[in-house]
Amino acid sequence: MKYLFLTTAILLAGCKGVESPPAADDSAAPKIAATPAPKTGMVAAANPLATQAGLKVLRDGGSAVDAAIAVQATLGLVEPQSSGLGGGAFMVVYDPKAAKVWAYDGREEAPSGAAAEMFLDAETGRPRSYFQRTGSGQATGTPGAIVMLHMAHQDYGNLDWGAQLAGSIKLAEEGFRVSPRMAGMVTRMAPYILKNDPEARAYFFTDDGEPLPEGFLRDNQPYADTLRAIAENPRALLEGDIARDIIAKVAAEPFPGTLTLADMAAYQPRKTEALCTPYRAHTVCGAQPPASGGIAVQSILGTLENFDMSAAGNSAEGWHLFAEASFLAYADRDKYVADTNFVEVPVAAMLDKAYLKSRADLIRPNAVIADVKAGDPAGFLQGQDATPDTPGTSHFTIVDKDGLTVSMTTTIEGPFGSQRMVRGFLLNNELTDFSAYEKDSDGVLIANRVAPRKRPRSSMSPAIVFDRDGEFLFTTGSPGGNSIIAYTAKTIVGILDWDLSPQEAIELPNVIARNGTLRMEAQNLRDAETDELDRGAGAKEFGLAEDIVSALEGLGHKVRRSGGETSGLHIIYRQADGSLIGGADPRREGTAEKP
Ligand code: GLY
Repeated sequence: MKYLFLTTAILLAGCKGVESPPAADDSAAPKIAATPAPKTGMVAAANPLATQAGLKVLRDGGSAVDAAIAVQATLGLVEPQSSGLGGGAFMVVYDPKAAKVWAYDGREEAPSGAAAEMFLDAETGRPRSYFQRTGSGQATGTPGAIVMLHMAHQDYGNLDWGAQLAGSIKLAEEGFRVSPRMAGMVTRMAPYILKNDPEARAYFFTDDGEPLPEGFLRDNQPYADTLRAIAENPRALLEGDIARDIIAKVAAEPFPGTLTLADMAAYQPRKTEALCTPYRAHTVCGAQPPASGGIAVQSILGTLENFDMSAAGNSAEGWHLFAEASFLAYADRDKYVADTNFVEVPVAAMLDKAYLKSRADLIRPNAVIADVKAGDPAGFLQGQDATPDTPGTSHFTIVDKDGLTVSMTTTIEGPFGSQRMVRGFLLNNELTDFSAYEKDSDGVLIANRVAPRKRPRSSMSPAIVFDRDGEFLFTTGSPGGNSIIAYTAKTIVGILDWDLSPQEAIELPNVIARNGTLRMEAQNLRDAETDELDRGAGAKEFGLAEDIVSALEGLGHKVRRSGGETSGLHIIYRQADGSLIGGADPRREGTAEKP
């Protein structure tokens, strides 16, 4: 009781900002302008070898998009648990000369034979077990990351297509030292299905059948050969012998998939203008659906715009507001966001300032919203989502000397994707990002249901933020399944509202408010739960202090102290003098460096 009184008193004492929020400017529009060249570039990626690969391309005169091709090719080799040739990606590109921001979509696509509820157990009618779903052939969609990069290369490449792959080819042939994180992930996944596929077994385990240890020199000739084929033909994964091998592996038991050459041949990456909305005096741009991250991050920010987050600060009050805005935004994105080629997504209505003000009005300073529900921004009837997300994925960012800027999040979905390997790379299990059910319990169709040639909803949130003049300010983004949205939003609040450096913003506690539970890195792991596959770093080092956690519990939040939230945030930030600084998430093993 004493405790409750205390927390309420603390919160009310700090609530001036909440009582008199600065009015959101209804007339504000996103502002994108040209930005002076930074003169020297920067790369921030999840593995030092990938960062180095990107820097080498920049030094050789490549653009940020050229460097992105090298980074992706290297990540697929040295961080195969997260992303690769067999996966998909979303990339936001800022062109500082044209003052344009583009969203490229290389999301995997379901085959024409994909069926609604294909991940349900025929007898129980419930979703099959995690490994039955992810390790199935049905989980693999047409991979889009490489052809998406090729599309961006046609727009912004300086080097000939294929030149960017030389470093990764050499690394694959000569071998690379297995990183601690990769070794840890192989060990963690070894007891399950990673040994089932003969190629994956031979690659990820020693001749004695032990998981590859840290420091092991791992070569990958098939990967080098695949990269050579891609250098010759950017669609080499989607046609010819490699495509046939992918199809054969997908068609293998258990739960064979239906991917065909026609599905692969039909695949095209998409390009649209990025989704941009103002946040206070700044502009935040992100990916378009089927990525939900752009909408959800901007929805959190648009809700928080109705409060003085700067005055609230990194405190119980600040995190309460962040949590409540997140609960509301996740509820909306869960219900409404899916592939816009198949369902109408009310993007503008979801981000409308008056709508978000009505959502913000639900937030009270001294108590939680009892039962967060999706709003009704545009009179749409959609079923209650049933999409199981898995943490995986990788995020990197690059700025070149001319200021061309890439923010790219890339994935094969779960750790090691479907754990089926073809020609040195892993196939994705991205189709498990669809809703397991077609309809909700009221019989209403769910937006993110499976359909032939549809792309599953993603939480990926690559973002680029612009200053009050519309000039480039910083990039951000993270891996982490549906937590990506919270991880990314935290950094934007940290930098813009709490005046933190990029590194400090990355090291803020990860706090994820979704579906009624407030999961967080907490310094006191009293009841830590570490059951999820990609968790286990960061809680003690970066967790919320106990007085803040207790205050949030006092407000009625159902807190779950996570054993760690393995975000992999990477940021590049332009300082007032035009120079770049970067931030890399110490929860993973990435670096941010200049050429
Ligand atoms: N596979 C992670 C995501 O797309 O959200």
